[in-house]
Amino acid sequence: MVAPSLLSADFSAMGEAVKKIEESGADWVHMDIMDGVFVPTLTFGPKMVADLRKKTKLPMDVHLMVVNPEKYIKPFIEAGADHITFHLEAEVHSHRLLQNILGLGIKAGISIVPSTPALLLGEILDMLDIILIMTVNPGFGGQKLISRSLEKISYLAAMKREKGFRYRIAVDGGVDKTTVQSLRGAGAEILVTGSAFFGSADPAADVMYLRGNNFV
Ligand code: DX5
Ligand code: ZN
Repeated sequence: MVAPSLLSADFSAMGEAVKKIEESGADWVHMDIMDGVFVPTLTFGPKMVADLRKKTKLPMDVHLMVVNPEKYIKPFIEAGADHITFHLEAEVHSHRLLQNILGLGIKAGISIVPSTPALLLGEILDMLDIILIMTVNPGFGGQKLISRSLEKISYLAAMKREKGFRYRIAVDGGVDKTTVQSLRGAGAEILVTGSAFFGSADPAADVMYLRGNNFV
């Protein structure tokens, strides 16, 4: 599946950006929430999500790059988020927060930054709907993929095969036509794409390409 990230959209025209995502045939709208503390910059909050909720039926995939993520779960669910992913590095009590999110009836994800080993997810693998592997250091679009992260994808794909976990493996950062084959080959199932999508002359063709329909 393909999840274009609004981070690379024109922030003065978010409604049109969501329409562009829908028209491209992509699967989810990825929304990067940055607090200027966990990552250096700021983006937007629940009001943007609530306003965009009225513009699309696509699942809204909220990626919290914030400290104290527990403060923001309810506001984003009320705004219409379908999935909420928070960072393992930002929350000591990840197990409890996952229970809370799942108890509120939406899908729950955890993300890890490039320096965090996938092994640290071991105790919570059975609770996760989404594992978002950051393939760049979070904070900005348009960075180069850190290829070492491929090993984490392969490891999590193998664990999923062996144990039958339900999580889907998502990758975020530096996803484009040049990196997608190795990402898919390693086991990535959800491809978040920001600058490549919004910089594309033909987003629909690119979405097909990322999915593996390379004949278009
Ligand atoms: C980075 C964000 C990403 C970002 C990816 O901190 O989490 O979702 O938009 O952008 P690209 O695809 O340009 O690397
Ligand atoms: Zn993201």
